[in-house]
Amino acid sequence: MSVRIVLGAQWGDEGKAKIVDYLTADSDVVVRYQGGANAGHTIKADGLEFVFHLIPAGIVHSDKTCVIGNGVVLDPDALFEEIEDLESKGISVEGRLFISPNTHLVMPYHKRLEQANEEKIGDAAIGTTLRGIGPTYQDKINRSTGIRVGDLLDAEILPKKIRTNLREKNEILQKIYGQEGLDEVPMIEQYMALGERLAPFITDTSVYLNEAIDAGKSVLFEGSQGTLLDIDHGSYPYVTSSNTTAGGACTGSGIGPTKIDEVIGVVKAYTTRVGNGPFPTELTGEMGDRIRDIGQEYGATTGRPRRCGWLDLVIVRMAVRINGLSSIAVTRLDILDELEELKICTHYLRDGKRVEHFPSDLKVLSECEPVYETLPGWQTPTDHIRTYADLPEKARNYLDRITELAKTPISIVSVGPDRDETIPVD
Ligand code: IMO
Ligand code: MG
Repeated sequence: MSVRIVLGAQWGDEGKAKIVDYLTADSDVVVRYQGGANAGHTIKADGLEFVFHLIPAGIVHSDKTCVIGNGVVLDPDALFEEIEDLESKGISVEGRLFISPNTHLVMPYHKRLEQANEEKIGDAAIGTTLRGIGPTYQDKINRSTGIRVGDLLDAEILPKKIRTNLREKNEILQKIYGQEGLDEVPMIEQYMALGERLAPFITDTSVYLNEAIDAGKSVLFEGSQGTLLDIDHGSYPYVTSSNTTAGGACTGSGIGPTKIDEVIGVVKAYTTRVGNGPFPTELTGEMGDRIRDIGQEYGATTGRPRRCGWLDLVIVRMAVRINGLSSIAVTRLDILDELEELKICTHYLRDGKRVEHFPSDLKVLSECEPVYETLPGWQTPTDHIRTYADLPEKARNYLDRITELAKTPISIVSVGPDRDETIPVD
């Protein structure tokens, strides 16, 4: 029995779902605990590709149960789209998907407000996924305006909450953004109907998870986004609106920290970022394009090209610290197979002084220069390799250097998108 968290150690898109899928084999329950349909979690299994936005990737294993915890923000349309897509591939979620009644709902006005705001602030835009994530968490924290999954089951409360919200939101849309408002009657009808469809999934997931853990079941927490996108610890304001770090698994699901056995940080063998914001090791020239090309680094949710750069150990060390990482899973090593040489950023320099810790002040960060160590590339394919010992020596040197600089062991190396293209490390 074990309770493990898998989370992103960089700016998202680290290949978390691949690692989750690999670890699901010896888990009973897989849990999403924060974020929403901003996530794009891709797995390849049995010759099929799945992209998950809300449902935990563990759902492809027909004997596992999945939980959408209270910390998630749920877009019911996106959820049912995903359920239908799974059904078309022969996977049923019936009886094995549980959703917390405390999960907040992404409403149509959240998406409209986010789009309008991103357009209005122009150069200062965050470059969000436009999935309504920020405005939904805003209403959650605001308390009086948030609508939760449980409210969908109450024929009195739901219309009242939608009406109150629309009065305010329409005024903002019209007066601040000069747009048309949204109609209340069809929205109430739509969400009442969605409530009926969601009802069979609604369960007290905190009770469910704690009982599962007490019964000796293995639970796997599937983080979304990454440590540097955390609302408190990330490169604020260019972050998402939830706690993507390990603590989020507790608050976002209703289990206590003493129940967690392991925290696995997923580190892509290089760095990528989508959206705006600082990125010290970004490669804006030919090498960045080359990595994007080989790695097909385009967003799974928005299709946007991802910014690419060298591996930054200042960031990885921050992920080790904030999440208390037990180990690291390195993904996409194979993407580096053909490169002549590789760089690892070991620390930054600011005014000639060594900077070991990622600065939270963006101005300070902008004055930091990454300092690199250059390592020779292995220039041979690795995707067929299944043991650490069989990796080319130069690839092992690259990985060993990550372990040394992060002061954290590597537990898994991924050399391809398929489930079996995985190297467990003892
Ligand atoms: P997964 O789980 C990478 C980024 C957006 C933007 C910022 C805020 O697939 O790793 P939001 O829509 O969350 O308000 O956008 O966060 N972002 C991600 N980047 N991977 C993700 O998820 C992301 N989810 C959000 O690009 O910069
Ligand atoms: Mg992604």
